Amino acid sequence: MTNVGERIPTLADLGDVGGKRVLVRTDFNVPMEDGVITDDFRIRAALPTINWLTERGASVVAASHLGRPKGKPDAKYSMDPVRARLVELAPGVDLMENLRFDPGEEGNDPAFVARLVVGIDAYVDDAFGASHRAHASIVGPPRTLPSAMGLLLEKEVDVLLGLRDKPAHPFVAVLGGSKISDKLGVVEALLRVVDSLVIGGAMCFTFLAAEGYGIGDSLWEPDQVGTCRRLLDESKASGKTIHLPEDLVGVDAAGNYATFGRSLPDGAKGFDIGPGTAAAFSDVIMDARTVFWNGPMGMFEDPRFEAGTRTVAQAMADTKAFTVVGGGDSAAALAQFRLDDEVDHVSTGGGASLELLELGDLPGLEALRHAPNAK
Ligand code: 3PG
Ligand code: MG
Repeated sequence: MTNVGERIPTLADLGDVGGKRVLVRTDFNVPMEDGVITDDFRIRAALPTINWLTERGASVVAASHLGRPKGKPDAKYSMDPVRARLVELAPGVDLMENLRFDPGEEGNDPAFVARLVVGIDAYVDDAFGASHRAHASIVGPPRTLPSAMGLLLEKEVDVLLGLRDKPAHPFVAVLGGSKISDKLGVVEALLRVVDSLVIGGAMCFTFLAAEGYGIGDSLWEPDQVGTCRRLLDESKASGKTIHLPEDLVGVDAAGNYATFGRSLPDGAKGFDIGPGTAAAFSDVIMDARTVFWNGPMGMFEDPRFEAGTRTVAQAMADTKAFTVVGGGDSAAALAQFRLDDEVDHVSTGGGASLELLELGDLPGLEALRHAPNAK
Protein backbone atom coordinates (compact mmCIF):
# COMPACT_ATOMS: atom_id res chain seq x y z
CA MET A 1 0.00 0.00 0.00
CA THR A 2 0.92 3.59 -0.49
CA ASN A 3 1.42 6.03 2.37
CA VAL A 4 -1.99 7.59 1.93
CA GLY A 5 -3.60 4.14 1.91
CA GLU A 6 -1.84 3.03 5.10
CA ARG A 7 -3.69 5.49 7.28
CA ILE A 8 -7.09 4.40 6.02
CA PRO A 9 -8.82 1.59 7.94
CA THR A 10 -9.35 -1.62 5.96
CA LEU A 11 -11.94 -4.37 6.45
CA ALA A 12 -9.81 -6.09 9.09
CA ASP A 13 -9.96 -2.90 11.19
CA LEU A 14 -13.71 -3.41 11.62
CA GLY A 15 -13.02 -6.23 14.07
CA ASP A 16 -15.56 -9.05 14.35
CA VAL A 17 -18.42 -8.28 11.97
CA GLY A 18 -20.42 -11.43 12.84
CA GLY A 19 -24.07 -10.56 13.46
CA LYS A 20 -23.48 -6.89 12.56
CA ARG A 21 -25.38 -4.81 10.01
CA VAL A 22 -22.89 -3.23 7.65
CA LEU A 23 -23.77 -0.38 5.27
CA VAL A 24 -21.71 -0.77 2.08
CA ARG A 25 -21.63 2.30 -0.19
CA THR A 26 -21.18 0.93 -3.70
CA ASP A 27 -21.04 2.65 -7.08
CA PHE A 28 -23.80 0.80 -8.93
CA ASN A 29 -24.21 3.70 -11.37
CA VAL A 30 -24.31 1.25 -14.29
CA PRO A 31 -25.09 1.99 -17.94
CA MET A 32 -28.71 1.16 -18.81
CA GLU A 33 -30.80 1.14 -21.96
CA ASP A 34 -34.60 1.00 -21.67
CA GLY A 35 -34.37 -0.23 -18.07
CA VAL A 36 -31.89 -3.01 -18.94
CA ILE A 37 -28.33 -3.03 -17.56
CA THR A 38 -25.89 -3.06 -20.49
CA ASP A 39 -22.73 -3.64 -18.41
CA ASP A 40 -22.72 -5.05 -14.86
CA PHE A 41 -18.95 -4.55 -14.32
CA ARG A 42 -19.50 -2.17 -11.38
CA ILE A 43 -21.84 -4.65 -9.67
CA ARG A 44 -19.44 -7.58 -10.07
CA ALA A 45 -16.56 -5.41 -8.86
CA ALA A 46 -18.26 -5.01 -5.44
CA LEU A 47 -18.69 -8.75 -4.87
CA PRO A 48 -15.34 -9.45 -3.16
CA THR A 49 -16.18 -6.97 -0.39
CA ILE A 50 -19.79 -8.12 -0.06
CA ASN A 51 -18.68 -11.76 0.11
CA TRP A 52 -15.90 -10.96 2.60
CA LEU A 53 -18.51 -9.48 4.93
CA THR A 54 -21.25 -12.10 4.49
CA GLU A 55 -18.77 -14.99 4.88
CA ARG A 56 -17.95 -13.54 8.30
CA GLY A 57 -21.59 -13.41 9.33
CA ALA A 58 -22.39 -9.76 8.65
CA SER A 59 -25.65 -8.72 7.04
CA VAL A 60 -24.96 -6.32 4.21
CA VAL A 61 -27.08 -3.32 3.25
CA ALA A 62 -25.77 -1.85 0.01
CA ALA A 63 -26.53 1.71 -1.12
CA SER A 64 -25.74 3.56 -4.33
CA HIS A 65 -26.78 6.39 -6.58
CA LEU A 66 -27.90 5.77 -10.16
CA GLY A 67 -27.82 8.58 -12.71
CA ARG A 68 -28.62 12.16 -11.77
CA PRO A 69 -32.27 12.22 -10.65
CA LYS A 70 -32.08 15.73 -9.09
CA GLY A 71 -33.14 15.02 -5.50
CA LYS A 72 -36.56 13.47 -6.08
CA PRO A 73 -37.90 10.02 -6.93
CA ASP A 74 -37.90 9.27 -10.66
CA ALA A 75 -38.94 5.81 -11.89
CA LYS A 76 -36.36 6.04 -14.67
CA TYR A 77 -33.60 5.87 -12.05
CA SER A 78 -35.11 3.21 -9.78
CA MET A 79 -32.62 0.68 -8.37
CA ASP A 80 -34.97 -2.25 -9.22
CA PRO A 81 -32.95 -3.59 -12.21
CA VAL A 82 -29.73 -3.26 -10.21
CA ARG A 83 -31.28 -5.01 -7.20
CA ALA A 84 -32.47 -7.87 -9.43
CA ARG A 85 -28.93 -8.37 -10.77
CA LEU A 86 -27.34 -7.99 -7.33
CA VAL A 87 -29.44 -10.71 -5.69
CA GLU A 88 -28.54 -13.07 -8.54
CA LEU A 89 -24.88 -12.49 -7.74
CA ALA A 90 -25.12 -12.09 -3.95
CA PRO A 91 -28.32 -13.59 -2.52
CA GLY A 92 -29.53 -12.09 0.74
CA VAL A 93 -27.96 -8.67 0.26
CA ASP A 94 -30.27 -5.66 0.65
CA LEU A 95 -30.04 -2.65 -1.64
CA MET A 96 -31.53 0.71 -0.66
CA GLU A 97 -33.40 2.88 -3.16
CA ASN A 98 -31.39 5.42 -5.20
CA LEU A 99 -29.62 7.71 -2.72
CA ARG A 100 -30.04 10.70 -5.04
CA PHE A 101 -33.85 10.50 -4.75
CA ASP A 102 -33.26 12.59 -1.60
CA PRO A 103 -31.70 16.06 -1.94
CA GLY A 104 -29.82 15.32 1.30
CA GLU A 105 -27.44 12.98 -0.54
CA GLU A 106 -25.81 15.53 -2.83
CA GLY A 107 -26.38 18.29 -0.24
CA ASN A 108 -24.42 16.26 2.34
CA ASP A 109 -27.24 16.89 4.82
CA PRO A 110 -26.51 15.60 8.37
CA ALA A 111 -30.20 14.70 8.82
CA PHE A 112 -30.00 12.45 5.76
CA VAL A 113 -26.81 10.83 7.10
CA ALA A 114 -28.60 10.21 10.42
CA ARG A 115 -31.42 8.40 8.59
CA LEU A 116 -28.94 6.33 6.56
CA VAL A 117 -27.16 4.93 9.60
CA VAL A 118 -30.22 3.96 11.70
CA GLY A 119 -29.73 0.35 12.81
CA ILE A 120 -26.28 0.17 11.14
CA ASP A 121 -23.20 -1.00 13.11
CA ALA A 122 -20.39 -0.33 10.64
CA TYR A 123 -19.73 1.40 7.31
CA VAL A 124 -17.67 0.33 4.29
CA ASP A 125 -16.89 2.57 1.33
CA ASP A 126 -16.40 0.47 -1.80
CA ALA A 127 -17.76 3.13 -4.16
CA PHE A 128 -14.49 4.17 -5.76
CA GLY A 129 -16.27 5.73 -8.76
CA ALA A 130 -18.18 8.11 -6.44
CA SER A 131 -15.51 8.79 -3.80
CA HIS A 132 -14.58 12.10 -5.45
CA ARG A 133 -18.05 13.36 -4.44
CA ALA A 134 -18.36 14.82 -0.92
CA HIS A 135 -21.92 13.49 -0.72
CA ALA A 136 -23.76 12.36 2.41
CA SER A 137 -23.34 8.60 1.92
CA ILE A 138 -19.60 8.98 1.18
CA VAL A 139 -18.41 11.38 3.87
CA GLY A 140 -21.21 11.17 6.46
CA PRO A 141 -21.20 7.66 8.01
CA PRO A 142 -17.46 7.65 8.91
CA ARG A 143 -18.08 10.59 11.28
CA THR A 144 -19.83 8.24 13.70
CA LEU A 145 -19.47 4.59 12.64
CA PRO A 146 -16.47 2.26 12.65
CA SER A 147 -15.54 2.44 8.96
CA ALA A 148 -13.27 0.90 6.35
CA MET A 149 -12.43 0.95 2.69
CA GLY A 150 -13.66 -2.09 0.82
CA LEU A 151 -11.44 -4.34 -1.25
CA LEU A 152 -12.30 -2.60 -4.52
CA LEU A 153 -11.59 0.88 -3.15
CA GLU A 154 -8.32 -0.40 -1.66
CA LYS A 155 -7.22 -1.93 -4.98
CA GLU A 156 -8.11 1.19 -6.97
CA VAL A 157 -6.20 3.45 -4.57
CA ASP A 158 -3.22 1.14 -4.54
CA VAL A 159 -2.99 0.90 -8.34
CA LEU A 160 -3.67 4.56 -9.15
CA LEU A 161 -1.48 6.06 -6.42
CA GLY A 162 1.18 3.55 -7.46
CA LEU A 163 1.20 5.25 -10.87
CA ARG A 164 1.89 8.58 -9.19
CA ASP A 165 4.42 7.34 -6.66
CA LYS A 166 6.46 4.48 -8.09
CA PRO A 167 5.79 3.77 -11.77
CA ALA A 168 8.23 1.54 -13.65
CA HIS A 169 9.78 3.59 -16.46
CA PRO A 170 9.25 4.21 -19.31
CA PHE A 171 5.82 5.38 -18.13
CA VAL A 172 3.47 6.40 -20.93
CA ALA A 173 0.06 8.05 -20.57
CA VAL A 174 -2.29 7.68 -23.53
CA LEU A 175 -5.04 10.30 -23.50
CA GLY A 176 -8.03 10.74 -25.77
CA GLY A 177 -11.61 11.91 -25.58
CA SER A 178 -12.97 15.21 -26.70
CA LYS A 179 -12.01 17.92 -24.25
CA ILE A 180 -8.58 18.96 -23.11
CA SER A 181 -10.19 21.50 -20.74
CA ASP A 182 -11.79 18.63 -18.73
CA LYS A 183 -8.45 16.90 -18.32
CA LEU A 184 -6.05 19.80 -17.94
CA GLY A 185 -5.35 19.15 -14.27
CA VAL A 186 -4.59 15.50 -14.81
CA VAL A 187 -2.48 16.24 -17.91
CA GLU A 188 -0.33 18.62 -15.84
CA ALA A 189 -0.02 16.07 -13.02
CA LEU A 190 0.82 13.24 -15.43
CA LEU A 191 3.46 15.34 -17.20
CA ARG A 192 5.36 15.45 -13.91
CA VAL A 193 5.61 11.63 -13.69
CA VAL A 194 5.48 10.21 -17.23
CA ASP A 195 8.24 9.89 -19.80
CA SER A 196 5.85 10.53 -22.67
CA LEU A 197 2.30 11.53 -23.36
CA VAL A 198 0.36 10.15 -26.33
CA ILE A 199 -2.55 12.32 -27.47
CA GLY A 200 -5.42 11.11 -29.67
CA GLY A 201 -9.17 11.68 -29.71
CA ALA A 202 -10.69 15.04 -30.54
CA MET A 203 -8.42 16.72 -27.99
CA CYS A 204 -5.53 16.25 -30.43
CA PHE A 205 -6.92 18.98 -32.69
CA THR A 206 -6.34 21.73 -30.14
CA PHE A 207 -2.72 20.52 -29.82
CA LEU A 208 -2.35 20.28 -33.62
CA ALA A 209 -3.76 23.81 -33.96
CA ALA A 210 -1.20 24.98 -31.37
CA GLU A 211 1.51 23.45 -33.58
CA GLY A 212 0.13 25.40 -36.57
CA TYR A 213 -1.47 22.53 -38.51
CA GLY A 214 -4.81 22.85 -40.34
CA ILE A 215 -7.63 21.13 -38.48
CA GLY A 216 -10.52 21.86 -40.90
CA ASP A 217 -13.86 21.79 -39.10
CA SER A 218 -12.78 19.26 -36.47
CA LEU A 219 -13.83 19.66 -32.82
CA TRP A 220 -11.40 21.85 -30.94
CA GLU A 221 -11.22 24.34 -28.08
CA PRO A 222 -9.85 27.65 -29.37
CA ASP A 223 -9.51 29.02 -25.83
CA GLN A 224 -7.15 26.15 -24.92
CA VAL A 225 -4.63 26.67 -27.72
CA GLY A 226 -2.37 28.75 -25.48
CA THR A 227 -2.44 26.08 -22.78
CA CYS A 228 -1.58 23.36 -25.30
CA ARG A 229 1.29 25.52 -26.62
CA ARG A 230 2.61 25.92 -23.06
CA LEU A 231 2.36 22.15 -22.38
CA LEU A 232 4.23 21.40 -25.62
CA ASP A 233 6.98 23.88 -24.72
CA GLU A 234 7.28 22.74 -21.10
CA SER A 235 7.46 19.09 -22.04
CA LYS A 236 10.18 19.82 -24.60
CA ALA A 237 12.16 21.76 -22.00
CA SER A 238 11.92 18.88 -19.52
CA GLY A 239 12.94 16.22 -22.06
CA LYS A 240 9.50 14.60 -22.29
CA THR A 241 7.79 13.72 -25.53
CA ILE A 242 4.21 14.56 -26.47
CA HIS A 243 3.24 12.30 -29.37
CA LEU A 244 0.59 13.81 -31.66
CA PRO A 245 -1.10 12.15 -34.65
CA GLU A 246 0.76 12.18 -37.97
CA ASP A 247 -2.19 11.02 -40.01
CA LEU A 248 -5.93 11.19 -39.49
CA VAL A 249 -9.17 9.63 -40.70
CA GLY A 250 -12.48 11.43 -41.04
CA VAL A 251 -14.74 12.99 -43.65
CA ASP A 252 -13.96 15.53 -46.36
CA ALA A 253 -15.91 18.75 -46.97
CA ALA A 254 -18.51 16.74 -48.96
CA GLY A 255 -19.00 14.38 -45.99
CA ASN A 256 -17.25 11.38 -47.59
CA TYR A 257 -14.89 9.08 -45.66
CA ALA A 258 -11.30 10.22 -46.23
CA THR A 259 -7.77 9.76 -44.95
CA PHE A 260 -5.50 12.72 -44.34
CA GLY A 261 -1.97 13.63 -43.34
CA ARG A 262 -1.34 15.75 -40.27
CA SER A 263 -3.06 18.84 -41.72
CA LEU A 264 -6.74 18.71 -42.59
CA PRO A 265 -8.07 20.74 -45.54
CA ASP A 266 -10.84 23.34 -45.05
CA GLY A 267 -14.22 21.76 -44.30
CA ALA A 268 -12.78 18.34 -43.40
CA LYS A 269 -13.43 16.73 -40.01
CA GLY A 270 -11.14 14.28 -38.23
CA PHE A 271 -12.83 11.43 -36.38
CA ASP A 272 -9.98 8.99 -35.73
CA ILE A 273 -6.20 8.75 -35.73
CA GLY A 274 -4.82 7.30 -38.99
CA PRO A 275 -3.18 3.89 -39.45
CA GLY A 276 0.39 5.28 -39.36
CA THR A 277 -0.33 7.06 -36.08
CA ALA A 278 -2.05 4.00 -34.62
CA ALA A 279 1.05 1.92 -35.43
CA ALA A 280 3.36 4.55 -33.92
CA PHE A 281 1.24 4.84 -30.74
CA SER A 282 1.19 1.09 -30.45
CA ASP A 283 5.03 0.97 -30.66
CA VAL A 284 5.25 3.48 -27.80
CA ILE A 285 2.90 1.30 -25.72
CA MET A 286 4.84 -1.90 -26.55
CA ASP A 287 8.13 -0.29 -25.43
CA ALA A 288 6.73 1.03 -22.13
CA ARG A 289 6.87 -0.60 -18.70
CA THR A 290 3.83 1.27 -17.36
CA VAL A 291 0.88 2.55 -19.39
CA PHE A 292 -2.15 4.54 -18.26
CA TRP A 293 -4.90 4.95 -20.86
CA ASN A 294 -7.89 7.26 -20.60
CA GLY A 295 -10.15 8.27 -23.48
CA PRO A 296 -10.79 6.75 -26.92
CA MET A 297 -8.65 7.70 -29.93
CA GLY A 298 -11.69 8.46 -32.08
CA MET A 299 -15.42 7.96 -32.53
CA PHE A 300 -15.17 4.21 -31.97
CA GLU A 301 -18.96 3.77 -31.75
CA ASP A 302 -18.92 4.23 -35.57
CA PRO A 303 -17.22 1.21 -37.24
CA ARG A 304 -15.59 3.53 -39.81
CA PHE A 305 -13.73 5.31 -37.00
CA GLU A 306 -12.94 2.52 -34.54
CA ALA A 307 -9.58 1.34 -35.94
CA GLY A 308 -7.39 3.75 -33.98
CA THR A 309 -9.00 2.92 -30.65
CA ARG A 310 -8.94 -0.80 -31.48
CA THR A 311 -5.20 -0.71 -32.31
CA VAL A 312 -4.41 1.09 -29.06
CA ALA A 313 -6.60 -1.36 -27.10
CA GLN A 314 -4.82 -4.29 -28.75
CA ALA A 315 -1.42 -2.81 -27.87
CA MET A 316 -2.61 -2.42 -24.26
CA ALA A 317 -3.46 -6.13 -24.32
CA ASP A 318 -0.20 -7.21 -26.01
CA THR A 319 2.40 -5.11 -24.17
CA LYS A 320 4.36 -6.56 -21.26
CA ALA A 321 3.93 -3.22 -19.47
CA PHE A 322 1.77 -2.84 -16.36
CA THR A 323 -1.44 -1.52 -17.92
CA VAL A 324 -4.14 0.59 -16.27
CA VAL A 325 -7.27 1.85 -17.99
CA GLY A 326 -9.23 4.77 -16.54
CA GLY A 327 -12.95 4.06 -16.53
CA GLY A 328 -15.67 5.47 -18.72
CA ASP A 329 -15.33 5.40 -22.50
CA SER A 330 -11.94 3.67 -22.73
CA ALA A 331 -13.22 0.86 -20.50
CA ALA A 332 -16.31 0.62 -22.71
CA ALA A 333 -14.06 0.43 -25.80
CA LEU A 334 -11.98 -2.36 -24.24
CA ALA A 335 -15.17 -4.28 -23.45
CA GLN A 336 -16.46 -3.73 -27.01
CA PHE A 337 -13.24 -5.28 -28.37
CA ARG A 338 -13.41 -8.02 -25.70
CA LEU A 339 -9.98 -7.08 -24.39
CA ASP A 340 -11.06 -6.07 -20.88
CA ASP A 341 -9.52 -9.20 -19.34
CA GLU A 342 -6.18 -8.55 -21.07
CA VAL A 343 -5.10 -5.46 -19.14
CA ASP A 344 -3.84 -5.39 -15.56
CA HIS A 345 -6.42 -3.01 -14.11
CA VAL A 346 -9.60 -1.50 -15.49
CA SER A 347 -10.71 1.21 -13.10
CA THR A 348 -14.39 1.39 -12.11
CA GLY A 349 -14.03 5.15 -11.79
CA GLY A 350 -14.05 7.75 -14.56
CA GLY A 351 -13.87 11.15 -12.90
CA ALA A 352 -12.65 9.56 -9.66
CA SER A 353 -9.61 7.93 -11.29
CA LEU A 354 -8.57 11.21 -12.92
CA GLU A 355 -9.08 13.17 -9.68
CA LEU A 356 -7.07 10.65 -7.67
CA LEU A 357 -4.23 10.78 -10.22
CA GLU A 358 -4.32 14.57 -10.22
CA LEU A 359 -4.67 15.30 -6.49
CA GLY A 360 -3.47 12.08 -4.83
CA ASP A 361 -6.53 12.03 -2.57
CA LEU A 362 -10.34 11.98 -2.60
CA PRO A 363 -13.02 13.26 -0.18
CA GLY A 364 -14.12 9.66 0.50
CA LEU A 365 -10.59 8.65 1.55
CA GLU A 366 -10.17 11.71 3.74
CA ALA A 367 -13.45 10.88 5.52
CA LEU A 368 -12.28 7.32 6.26
CA ARG A 369 -9.01 8.59 7.73
CA HIS A 370 -11.01 10.39 10.42
CA ALA A 371 -13.31 7.47 11.29
CA PRO A 372 -13.55 6.59 15.02
CA ASN A 373 -11.64 3.31 14.46
CA ALA A 374 -8.83 4.90 12.37
CA LYS A 375 -5.44 4.65 14.01
C1 3PG B 1 -19.69 8.02 -12.37
O1 3PG B 1 -20.34 7.26 -13.07
O2 3PG B 1 -18.84 8.80 -12.82
C2 3PG B 1 -19.90 7.96 -10.88
O3 3PG B 1 -20.89 7.02 -10.56
C3 3PG B 1 -20.23 9.32 -10.33
O4 3PG B 1 -21.41 9.80 -10.91
P1 3PG B 1 -21.64 11.36 -11.04
O5 3PG B 1 -20.65 11.87 -12.05
O6 3PG B 1 -23.07 11.53 -11.47
O7 3PG B 1 -21.39 11.96 -9.67
MG1 MG C 1 -19.37 10.99 -14.17
